[in-house]
Amino acid sequence: MDFEFIITSKQEAIGIVELNRPKQYNALNRKMVREIVEAFEQFERDEEVRVIVLQGRGNAFSAGADIDEMAFDDTIKLELLNQFADWDKIALMKKPIIGAVQGYVFGGGFELALSCDMLIAAEGTEFCFPEVNLGVMPGAGGTQRLTKLVGRTKALEWIWTANRITANAALQHGVINQIVQKEILIEETMKIATQISNQPPLAIRLIKESVNKAVDYSLYEGMQFERKNFYVLFSSEDQKEGMQAFVEKRKPQFKGR
Ligand code: HXC
Repeated sequence: MDFEFIITSKQEAIGIVELNRPKQYNALNRKMVREIVEAFEQFERDEEVRVIVLQGRGNAFSAGADIDEMAFDDTIKLELLNQFADWDKIALMKKPIIGAVQGYVFGGGFELALSCDMLIAAEGTEFCFPEVNLGVMPGAGGTQRLTKLVGRTKALEWIWTANRITANAALQHGVINQIVQKEILIEETMKIATQISNQPPLAIRLIKESVNKAVDYSLYEGMQFERKNFYVLFSSEDQKEGMQAFVEKRKPQFKGR
């Protein structure tokens, strides 16, 4: 895959996307966001890939949207650009996306991190929504995703004040899954990614779909949705294999079918 602002690679069943503008702290310009989405889509179609890992090169995950690119935007240009259609596609990915974050996770970078399914953070990582300091506000899901995660009170505090949130506070409020030493961030992320990649892929994707519905649906609707996905898995070879292997007291061989 040939990209200008990201680097992609594969390690066994894991597709890796690295943000690659380290001198600008991986500030996200629009082409970069399009490339991230394109890379995700290619990994979605790649049968060998079961889990996607997103990380940033250099000292930051991302310091947010590219302010130089945005500075002279106007309302009509933004409407016509419809750049958030690209961001919306990230939420449509069915494979698990695990973010490995370090350094600055700011603004649009924080929103990109919040679009991942799980987040592993290096010690010293700082999260922040600094948009208010620029006279604007988060626009790629920040006010929505953060509020659903941490509740209205903390979301307002963090977004109004633009205070930097430590990795410990992010962990305490359920924004991230784990904090690890910086030197082992990628190693630990790959361990978790590998563990998930060894699980039956169809169950993994329907679990993601069902858990995501819990965010938007009522409990009743969510339960109905979960039930249908539970039934669907009984059409899979992996369900037969998983249960047969249990009965025969052996390790299952999952194929993703
Ligand atoms: C463009 C950026 C950038 C950004 C850093 N740089 N962040 N360029 N957009 N978001 C560039 C700087 O201009 C500089 O380039 C180089 O990266 C290093 O940054 P410095 O400021 O010199 O480094 P430092 O003093 O260490 O400070 C790091 C920092 C600071 C605290 C992260 O750069 C900062 O506050 N950045 C802006 C963060 C921000 O406001 N993000 C929100 C953007 S709005 P040169 O060429 O001078 O070396 C947003 C809205 C999203 O994200 C809406 C949805 C898309």
